[in-house]
This record gives sequence, structure tokens and C-alpha cells, in this order.
Amino acid sequence: MKDFDPIKSWDAERAKRYVTHLRGDEADAAEFLASYAKESGALEFAIGTGRIGIPLKEKGVAVSGIEGSPEMVAQLHAHPTGKDIPAVVGDMSQATTGKKYDVVYLVYNTIFNLLTADDQIRCFENAAKHMTKDGVFIVETAVPHAWIEPGKSDYVKAEHVSGMEITLDVARYDPVTQLFEENHVTLTESGIRMVPIVCRLITPGEMDLMARIAGLRLVDRYGDWKRSAFDSNSVMHVSVYGFRN
Ligand SMILES: C[S@@+](CC[C@H](N)C(=O)[O-])C[C@H]1O[C@@H](n2cnc3c(N)ncnc32)[C@H](O)[C@@H]1O
Repeated sequence: MKDFDPIKSWDAERAKRYVTHLRGDEADAAEFLASYAKESGALEFAIGTGRIGIPLKEKGVAVSGIEGSPEMVAQLHAHPTGKDIPAVVGDMSQATTGKKYDVVYLVYNTIFNLLTADDQIRCFENAAKHMTKDGVFIVETAVPHAWIEPGKSDYVKAEHVSGMEITLDVARYDPVTQLFEENHVTLTESGIRMVPIVCRLITPGEMDLMARIAGLRLVDRYGDWKRSAFDSNSVMHVSVYGFRN
């Protein structure tokens, strides 16, 4: 998508709206992540406004973050719990806090926000650099076929329909670049609002190979934060990587 910059798309207006955006998985995610945290705490890549980081900190875990958008960090630090979460503004595939953690985690499909295989591999490598010897890197993301049916290259879906407002989800997928270009287009009497996003879709198997390149191996994989089995019906996965012994 021409002129799309993943970080610039998380601007002040979107950051302000994102604070109230909950998915409903926050408590389960915080509980799952807390079970891996010991004295070295947790580092969230792409922490955003603290949707998961804040409930995790409220469970007593020392949480830090790396986040690309300064506007998202401003919202994190405007929260009474979030203000005490240190966050480095930078690219999660390169930026460092200079510390090691029991848990490094990356949720909500955000591994897909890195748009080349090299950057996605660098992200695994950067996670490994921030992990203690027994630490884990936990990644929660969708499986690609849940977003676009195999063999299909585009779709338009009615996301919201009412008398005075409609929202369309318009998407196109290129199997060569693995880029999924999507726009949520809201039409009202007063105008049109677009929320574009580009993602590079990768399968769980590709992620496992990226982890191996970074010196990590798959330890566990679940179908959700409640540790349901990951199977052919799963639409997402929570994958736990540790150092190869
Ligand atoms: C869907 S939000 C998720 C935020 C938070 N992890 C959550 O679960 O609510 C995606 C976030 O990833 C950030 N982001 C995207 N690409 C990034 C990158 N390369 N490095 C750091 N942050 C990035 C965006 O700025 C945005 O805050």
C-alpha cells in the first residue's frame, strides 16, 4: 500500500481512541503471562497504550515496554498504573532497554506489523537478546487462513451497517509478498474515514523457523490464553519460545 507507514498510522487521534479499545482477552492474557514472570519481570514489544501491560503490572509483575508510536506511549503514561511502566520509543526489531526479562511478549497479531521476513526474524533475535537464560518469548497472533481463505486474493465485508453509517472491511492479499493490505472504511453523511493497515502474514511453522534462526525453539503452543489445544480449528495461537538447550 503506497505511502503506508505502520508507525505513523498509530497517531495521536488513533492512540486516544485505542485507550478504550478492549478485546476481552486482557484478564486471561495477564494471567497467562504472569505465570512465566519471576524476579526479572516482563517486557512487552509494541506495548501500545498498555491494554495488556497495565493489568499485568496490576498483578504485581514489573513490566517494561518498547513501542514505536510516541503517541501510544503518551496514552500509556497518562494512566495511573501505566505512568510507572518504563517504555522505550523505538522499533521492536531493533530497540533495546539494555535489560533481560523472564518474559518478552508480543500480542494482538503485531508480529504481522513487521512487513518483511528479515524484520520479523530480527524481532525474534531482539526478543532473544532481552531474555534471561530461562526466559521465554511469547507471541500471540492469528493463523493466516483465519484472515483470508486459501486461494482467495481479496474481499469486501460489511463490518457495520446502520441507517446513517456503514463500515466496510476491504482487503487484498498477495501470496508472493505475503502482504495483507486492509482498509476499514466508514461512510457517514458527513464524510468518509479510512483506517488502513498492512500486515505480513506468517504461519506458525514459519514463526518456528524464525525462532530457530534466533537461537530459540518452540516450547508450547496453545489455541488461546486459556491454554486450549492448538489444532486445525484454531484461528489463533499463543506460542511460547525458549532458548535451545
Ligand atoms: C494492535 S496495537 C497493539 C498494542 C498492544 N500490544 C495491545 O495489545 O493492545 C499495535 C501496536 O504496535 C505498535 N507497533 C507497530 N509496529 C511496531 C514496531 N515495528 N515497533 C514497535 N511498535 C510497533 C503500534 O504503534 C501499536 O501501538
